[in-house]
This record gives sequence, structure tokens and C-alpha cells, in this order.
Amino acid sequence: MTDAAQTPETLFDRLGGEAGIRRLVDRFYDLMDLEPQYAGIRALHPSSLEGSRDKLFWFLCGWSGGPDHFVQRFGHPRLRARHLPYAIGIAERDQWMSCMVSAMEEVGVDEDLRPRLTQALFNTADWMRNR
Ligand code: HEM
Repeated sequence: MTDAAQTPETLFDRLGGEAGIRRLVDRFYDLMDLEPQYAGIRALHPSSLEGSRDKLFWFLCGWSGGPDHFVQRFGHPRLRARHLPYAIGIAERDQWMSCMVSAMEEVGVDEDLRPRLTQALFNTADWMRNR
């Protein structure tokens, strides 16, 4: 959007709104399920990834400036507390990021956006470490 009189585009818009974020999350979990290098973090998840897909999708919508589906359902994200049941160290953080970076590439997230998005997600992922 170039018209300064209009609302500036949010990260949510630039990711293609709900449809774009759903595609990204679905690819992320497909890769986690398929690729042996993500077996470590795959094993932390439930056998069915359907609930995990929904939760990450709902969370990222709000996180990127779109509708706050996650908060509407579950209240404050308390993301670090919600991850405490899972052992997350450097290896798990790096698998999560690598899986997300591949998903971003594969679904074609705007190249100009990727470095900023990667940095922001890295900060969140690093904050989730509890080992
Ligand atoms: C650092 C590596 C990470 C690992 C190993 C990890 C792993 C997990 C696991 C095992 C779950 C439970 C899945 C389920 O309940 O179905 C989960 C939940 C979740 N994760 Fe992560 N996660 C990581 C980083 C992140 C990051 C960076 C974000 C956000 C950008 C995120 C967002 C979420 C959300 C929103 C939930 C649902 C929380 C709930 O409602 O209980 N995770 N994660």
C-alpha cells in the first residue's frame, strides 16, 4: 500500500492474511513431519499435528497484527509458560527455526520480509529455551 492516507500494511497483510499464514503453518508442520532433521522437535508434539497447526496459525495471526484468534480462545499467550512442559534447548530452537525458514522459502514469503520475520521469530524461539 503506497497511499499514506491509508492504514499502513501490517505484517499480517504482507504474509497474505489468514490464507497466507495458514499455508506457511501447514508447510511448517508438513516439513516437521516429513524431514528426519526435525525428528527431535516432531517427537515433542502429539501424534496428530492438527491441534498444533491450528494453535500456531491462530497465534501467528494475532502476532503479525491480524485477528487475535489465539487470545480469543485461550487468553494471554504466556508462550514461554506454555512451552515449559517441553525440553527446549539450542538444538530444538535451531530445528524449529530451520523448519520455519524452509517453510517460508517454500511458500514464497516475500524475500524482503524474510530477514525481519526470521529475526523476530528467532527472538521468540530463543526466549522459549528452558534447558
Ligand atoms: C523453540 C522451539 C520450539 C519448540 C520445540 C516448540 C514446541 C512446541 C510444542 C511441542 C507444542 C505443543 C503442541 C500442541 O499442543 O499441539 C507447542 C505449542 C505451541 N507453540 Fe511452540 N515450539 C517452539 C517455538 C515456538 C515459537 C517460536 C512459537 C511462536 C512464534 C511457538 C508457538 C506455539 C504456540 C502458539 C503453541 C500452542 C500453545 C498452547 O496453546 O498450549 N512455538 N510448541
